[in-house]
Amino acid sequence: MSITEPQIKRILISQEEIAQRVKELSQQITSDYAGKELTLVCILKGAVIFWADLCRQIQLPVLSEFVAISSYGNRTTSSGVVKLDYDLAHSIEGKHVLIIEDIIDTGHTLAYLKENFMTRKPASLKVCALLDKPSRREIEVVLDYVGFRIPDEFVVGYGLDCGQKYRNLPYIATLPTPS
Ligand code: IMP
Ligand code: MG
Repeated sequence: MSITEPQIKRILISQEEIAQRVKELSQQITSDYAGKELTLVCILKGAVIFWADLCRQIQLPVLSEFVAISSYGNRTTSSGVVKLDYDLAHSIEGKHVLIIEDIIDTGHTLAYLKENFMTRKPASLKVCALLDKPSRREIEVVLDYVGFRIPDEFVVGYGLDCGQKYRNLPYIATLPTPS
């Protein structure tokens, strides 16, 4: 295999399926927040492509914010310890905040973020996740908008990485099991 070809196992969600779901989600969000200004918080780096596609189809006044999060421990022994590496640039007090996340796995990252954001007194706080792996959940978190529920497989593409690679794939794919 050449280095220009991604070494994926199979495409789980195609580019067309993603585009269709992003369109549906943006319509739902536009209707749910009608008449309001919305603060879309992108969780770097994984959600950036989803965020960029989604926000361009939301027909509301939108404020853009970014946070970067890292969690300690590897993903099989998730410690649940989460660190905020880059914080919101502006206050969210009194704002309608929608967190845009790539994937909810154990739920620890999102639980931490929601608790942290709630202390800043937003008018409302909801979550939109592209992918949900419910079978991996260790802590209960409410998801308001979900793109796709997927089985317990490690996925890459459309923003999601494995060792910082594959984020640029236009689809969601699984990787071959390391031999
Ligand atoms: P949680 O705190 O366990 O819910 O972790 C969520 C974070 O783990 C996501 O924001 C991703 O960065 C990462 N993650 C979890 N599952 C996958 C996957 O299948 N592919 C790529 N990243 C993943
Ligand atoms: Mg992430």
